[in-house]
Amino acid sequence: MGLSKTITLIPGDGIGPEISHAVTGILKAAGLNVHWDVQEGGEAAALAGRGVMPDTTIESIARTKIALKGPTTTPTGGGHQSANVTLRKRLDLYANVRPAKSLPGYKTRFENVDLMIVRENTEDTYAGIEHMVAPNVAQCLKVITREGSERVARYAFELARKLKRKRLTCVHKANIHKLTDGLFLRAHEDVSKDFPDVNFDSIIVDNLCMQLVTRPEQFDVLVLPNLYGDIVSDLCAGLVGGLGVAPGANIGDNGAVFEAVHGSAPDIAGQGKANPTALLLSAVMMLQHMGELEMAERIESALQRVLLEGKVRTGDLKGTASTSEFTEAIVHALSR
Ligand code: NAI
Ligand code: MG
Repeated sequence: MGLSKTITLIPGDGIGPEISHAVTGILKAAGLNVHWDVQEGGEAAALAGRGVMPDTTIESIARTKIALKGPTTTPTGGGHQSANVTLRKRLDLYANVRPAKSLPGYKTRFENVDLMIVRENTEDTYAGIEHMVAPNVAQCLKVITREGSERVARYAFELARKLKRKRLTCVHKANIHKLTDGLFLRAHEDVSKDFPDVNFDSIIVDNLCMQLVTRPEQFDVLVLPNLYGDIVSDLCAGLVGGLGVAPGANIGDNGAVFEAVHGSAPDIAGQGKANPTALLLSAVMMLQHMGELEMAERIESALQRVLLEGKVRTGDLKGTASTSEFTEAIVHALSR
């Protein structure tokens, strides 16, 4: 890569600094020429009185439009919102993207799973409109808008096109939620007309779940409203080996934040045991987002080779290697 770009780096809490160090080291070895604007976020920042996601960090992402984030501990006790909720709201990160792909050499019930899950991240029952209408009657409003549905649809179709994915499936329950899910589905049907190169279809969410746990390899890109997306993306992580190897991204028009799905793992923090795989795969997504497809591919295949050989693995994958030994093995594999 010729151009030097600036990327915001939030190392985060717990194992965050260890795995961030590992991943930036691998990206450097792969030839990525960037400046990391290191910013604070999480428990350490909150304890220092600057809030869980300081304005200076938000401003950095608003400037650079791109961030790699380590996990952040949500401080317990009143008044602390999670760093991720704050980021999502302040930057209007409306698409949560989580790939679920079988890792060679990491055996699970299924092989050849290669799903890309795009979850709408701001609407649905997560808009926070919930109240008691009578002492024993609670109500939660499901909000779906044309604008909110179209922007996530457009993002998903563009992603499908960029990654040369063949099929995009809109997931819904429009047979029951005729107006809300009906609007979500119609928005996808309308946007699909601008993407004749991507095969578009739709499926009802309960049928999708049954199909996913029997024949997951038949699906490609899935787009879901917030609630179904929350549930189905965890289900899909389970198909390929769980949260330990699951990367993710939160995308909006004001910026994109790439991070692992797992948390700060305080039980193993500072011991050099953490597995950087999920954050590394998040960085691979970041490179794809930046258009660095060739570098992304090279890093992913180096990781796959190390996992497939099975000699150097961290404890969570039943190995004995330290974070730095695993990192060195990937750096070495990059030049083979
Ligand atoms: P966790 O994901 O941090 O840990 C669960 C288990 O998985 C632990 O045994 C941990 O050692 C292991 N683990 C997680 N990541 C690992 C890795 N890379 N390598 C090896 N082992 C790993 O979940 P937990 O314990 O529920 O949460 C801890 C903290 O993290 C909480 O404060 C929570 O709020 C926060 N959290 C932050 C997230 C984020 O920033 N995106 C996401 C989830 C939780
Ligand atoms: Mg969830």
